[in-house]
Amino acid sequence: MYLLHVVGARPNFMKLAPVYRALHARGARQSIVHTGQHYDSNMSDVFFQQLHIPAPDINLSVGSGSHAKQTAEIMARFEPVVLDLRPDAVVVYGDVNSTVAAALVCAKLQIKVVHVEAGLRSGDRAMPEEINRLVTDQLSDLLLTPSVDGNENLSREGIPESKVMFIGNVMIDTLVHLLEAAKDAQVPGIPSRYGLVTLHRPSTVDDPLVLESIVKTLSELSSELEFVFPIHPRTRQRLDSLNHFASRVHLLEPQPYLQFLWLQKNATVVITDSGGIQEETTYLRVPCLTVRPNTERPVTVSVGSNTLVGYHTDRLRSELQAVIAGQGKRGEIPDRWDGHASARAAEAILNLGE
Ligand code: UD1
Repeated sequence: MYLLHVVGARPNFMKLAPVYRALHARGARQSIVHTGQHYDSNMSDVFFQQLHIPAPDINLSVGSGSHAKQTAEIMARFEPVVLDLRPDAVVVYGDVNSTVAAALVCAKLQIKVVHVEAGLRSGDRAMPEEINRLVTDQLSDLLLTPSVDGNENLSREGIPESKVMFIGNVMIDTLVHLLEAAKDAQVPGIPSRYGLVTLHRPSTVDDPLVLESIVKTLSELSSELEFVFPIHPRTRQRLDSLNHFASRVHLLEPQPYLQFLWLQKNATVVITDSGGIQEETTYLRVPCLTVRPNTERPVTVSVGSNTLVGYHTDRLRSELQAVIAGQGKRGEIPDRWDGHASARAAEAILNLGE
């Protein structure tokens, strides 16, 4: 069976790595297409190196652009690749623009689509990722879910059960695989006790009022707990005009996988608007405060260590103070987040060819 994997943005790479490895171990022939959605070396190349992913066979080099332009450009450049290589199936990951663009191309060419991390829903169509999830799942032939809420969402949307399989969380496979290696990835100059912050969603960082109120709250609370804040390029562009962080908020460049895992593992608390980080902190049982009104990963709240604080800085402040006082939520690890999700994924994908 010949498989093509399509990835483009940072959160795709930690999902690709274990699935590629599990398929390789089972003798599948595979190629990797990188769309070039993320192109900075600290957003892309360093992840390929640390996660031991072979260099992409093809790079579409699409770069940034509006959603329509970026999605359309990926489609236009990906279609001739599929026509040329004629894979038996194409594997797409998560909810980024590269995912939906590749799924659309394949559906029209009648090439089978496998969606890894299917079925997640925030119910919030104002977020571009939710649109990408809905469309990708409608077009997919095999839908691999990380949690049972995914199966329930897909069933409600009329997707036949025969296409859906609950495999668990492949990103947690990467975490389990590299946790030991991350022990040596200490980031220099970090305080011994700190809160780790990441923000990059348009809904958080593109609204100056929301971003400014979070920055102000963190600066105020930094007298009680220092913060470490690796800054995504999108957020960096917005923050350049907002120069009022207190000195106990340490700004860093985006971190490689192992260093970021080290930072999460050793944090007192994590404050984020990322989806993947809600999951990683749940596995690590580190309290996580998510600055979003909703989440497509409800199991991190119902089972894991995540608390949704919305954009209410009063709530952020009171939850942070509770964590500082030692009352942070630790939670449990969800079902099938056990380091073997990609083995289950590989078996299901290879069954497609039979
Ligand atoms: C994308 C995903 C988001 C994911 C995030 C992880 C979509 C719709 N969004 O958001 O789901 O959580 O990646 O990072 O696909 N930029 C650089 N260098 C890079 C990449 C981006 O400077 O290597 C800058 C560009 O100015 C670009 C901006 O960041 O305009 C946003 O990048 P883009 O890929 O459009 O979306 P993200 O915000 O990264």
